[in-house]
Amino acid sequence: MLEDWLAEIRAAPSLEALEAIRVRLLGKKGELTQRLKGLGKLPPEARREEGRRLNEAKRALEAAIESRAGELKEEALARRLAAEAQDVTLPGLPFPAGNLHVLTQVLGELVGIFERMGYRAVLGPEAEEEFYNFDALNIPPHHPARDMHDTFWLKPAEGFEARFPRPLLLRTHTSPIQVRYMSTHTPPFKIVAPGKVFRHEATDATHEAMFHQLEGLVVGERITLADLKGALLAMARALYGPQARVNFRPSYFPFVEPGVEFEVWWENPRTGRGQWLELGGAGMVHPEVFRAVDELREEKGLAPLYRGMTGFAFGLGVERIAMLRYQVPDIRAFFQNRLAFLNQFREEV
Ligand code: PHE
Repeated sequence: MLEDWLAEIRAAPSLEALEAIRVRLLGKKGELTQRLKGLGKLPPEARREEGRRLNEAKRALEAAIESRAGELKEEALARRLAAEAQDVTLPGLPFPAGNLHVLTQVLGELVGIFERMGYRAVLGPEAEEEFYNFDALNIPPHHPARDMHDTFWLKPAEGFEARFPRPLLLRTHTSPIQVRYMSTHTPPFKIVAPGKVFRHEATDATHEAMFHQLEGLVVGERITLADLKGALLAMARALYGPQARVNFRPSYFPFVEPGVEFEVWWENPRTGRGQWLELGGAGMVHPEVFRAVDELREEKGLAPLYRGMTGFAFGLGVERIAMLRYQVPDIRAFFQNRLAFLNQFREEV
C-alpha cells in the first residue's frame, strides 16, 4: 500500500495533482489520517505495532511529497526561464552612424599636412568686422578690391544697434585671421586657419555663395618668397605625390607685396593627363598690414613688434581640391545635403 502511494507521489504530474494526493492521504479525512484515528479500536498489543508503522508511513509520505514538490517547482522555473530567455545572439538593429562631410575631411587632411610642418591651426569668426576683413588688410573704403569681394553685410536686429557699433559682415576670405592673430601673438610663428567664407555672387557650377579656404601665415625674421614656395611645394607633394610641382604667376592682392597666384601640377590618376590647377593667392605680407597690426597692438597696450618683420601668407580654395580629386562637376553638390552624394565619401570605420 505504502509503496503504491509513494509511486503515485513520485509520478504526480503537477503541483495541483500532488496537492490532491496529499489531501487524499494526509488531509483531515485522508486515508492515512482515518487509519490513525482507527488505532484506538485495535487491541493494545496490535495498536503499538500498527501505530509505529502508520507514523513511519506518514513521515515517508510527507518526505516524498516535499521532495516531489521541489522537483515540480524546479521544472516550472526551468520552463519559465526557457520561455522568457532573450536570444542575445540575434544581430542588433543597425544604428546609423554619422560621417565627416567630404570637405571637412579634405580640410582636416590639409591642416594635418601643415601641422606636421610645425604650423598651429587657429580659427576666426565667420561674422567679422569690416576693419579686419578690409581696412587692416590695406583695403581702404572705396578701394576697388572691395568690389571684387561682393559682401554680405549684416544688420543688427532692431534694438541691438548699440551692441554692434562697428559694421559686421560675413568674412569674404580667411585673411582677417592674419590681423587678429598678429594683434595678440609674438613672432616668430607659423599658423594655418581653415574656415567658411562668403561671397554675394550668383551661383553656378564653379561658384557658391559659401565656400572654404585655408589661410596660411608665417612671420619671422628674413622670411622670403622662396620659403613660401617651399611650403606650398611641400603641401603639393603631400597632396599629390613627389612629382607635384608649384608655379607662381604675378598677381595683385592689397595685403601682399609681391603677390602671386599659385597653381599646382596635378595628374588625374584615372586619365593620366596632367593640368595646372589654380589653387589660390599668396605673397609676402605687405608692410601696411604690419603697420596696421602694430597700431592695433598699441591701442591694446601691447608692444608693437611687427615693423620691419617679414612674412608670407597664402589662401587656397578647398572645394577646388575636392572637386578635382573626386571628379565632382558642380560645387553646389557639396551643400545640397543629398545623402546619395555625401555617402560616397564615407570613411572606412
Ligand atoms: N584672401 C585672398 C582671397 O581670398 C587669398 C590670399 C590669401 C592672397 C593670402 C594672398 C595672401 O582671394
